[in-house]
Amino acid sequence: MAIPKSDVIWFNGEFVPWDDAQVHVLAHVLHYGSSVFEGIRAYHTKQGTAVLGLEPHVKRLFNSAKVIRMDIPFTHQEISDAILATVKRNGHEACYIRPLVFRGYETLGVNPTACPVETIIATWEWGAYLGPEAIEVGVDVGVSSWRRMAPDTHPAMAKVGGNYVNSQLVVMEAKRHGYVEGIVLDTNGYVSEGSGENIFVVYDGKIYTPPLGNSILSGITRSYVLQLAKDRGIEVVEQQIPREMLYFADEAFFTGTAAEVTPIKSVDGQPVGAGSRGPITKALQGEFFGILTGEKEDRYGWLTPVK
Ligand SMILES: Cc1ncc(COP(=O)(O)O)c(C=O)c1O
Repeated sequence: MAIPKSDVIWFNGEFVPWDDAQVHVLAHVLHYGSSVFEGIRAYHTKQGTAVLGLEPHVKRLFNSAKVIRMDIPFTHQEISDAILATVKRNGHEACYIRPLVFRGYETLGVNPTACPVETIIATWEWGAYLGPEAIEVGVDVGVSSWRRMAPDTHPAMAKVGGNYVNSQLVVMEAKRHGYVEGIVLDTNGYVSEGSGENIFVVYDGKIYTPPLGNSILSGITRSYVLQLAKDRGIEVVEQQIPREMLYFADEAFFTGTAAEVTPIKSVDGQPVGAGSRGPITKALQGEFFGILTGEKEDRYGWLTPVK
């Protein structure tokens, strides 16, 4: 679906009309993927519009920039304030938020250091990423023939634009094979994540998810689901997951800002468990969405109101 336009985009500290937020075709980022970004959601809660995970998302943006030696010309607080101001200015009740920091136009050698660092924050109204029914019904996925980048190649924990060539290859292949999404193995053949989601497997009442060392992005939704599971007394194991565990899992699900908590109903054409959303996935979704709608108390302080 095409991006629905909002009124303004925050561009280097100013609001500019949506259509005027332009860059030069020789901007460094277009050629070499020299950017860091975030994907954040604001929810329409009973108490009003609120941003989920504002602090950890902004922190991850700065961490990602540090890894690629890019100095963001704003403070953490300024970016947080600008995110809230952009959501407010565009008048959203609920939306997706895309902060992006990139190397602009100056030189075109691979060395990016002479290029200006530019910052934008865009917001737009957006529904379920993996389809409207996916949250209840689940999605069919396949294991990709591509691998996640090896640890000493691209920095998987940093949300860097260039990393997403790998994700594009994975999701395009998945769609070609009739799947909604792909699961990528790491360079040693262990389960890593989806093209834009972390993955969880439920087996014999315990929840398993790959640790940070398996070339994953350290997902904020992942950390929330881990917290919810622990608080419900469900044992959580962060360990290497062999591919075959996907096939004998009782349940599996993706987590991510875009995908939220989405059940996986089949892997490579084989049903996961009963082939429909399992009870642990459903319980965790209930807790997660309960907080985001404001029906349950925000007991972990995940939400920042847009005043
Ligand atoms: C590769 C990848 N893994 C996992 C995630 C999930 O992270 P989060 O829950 O912070 O959105 C994302 C989305 O940002 C992603 O792009």
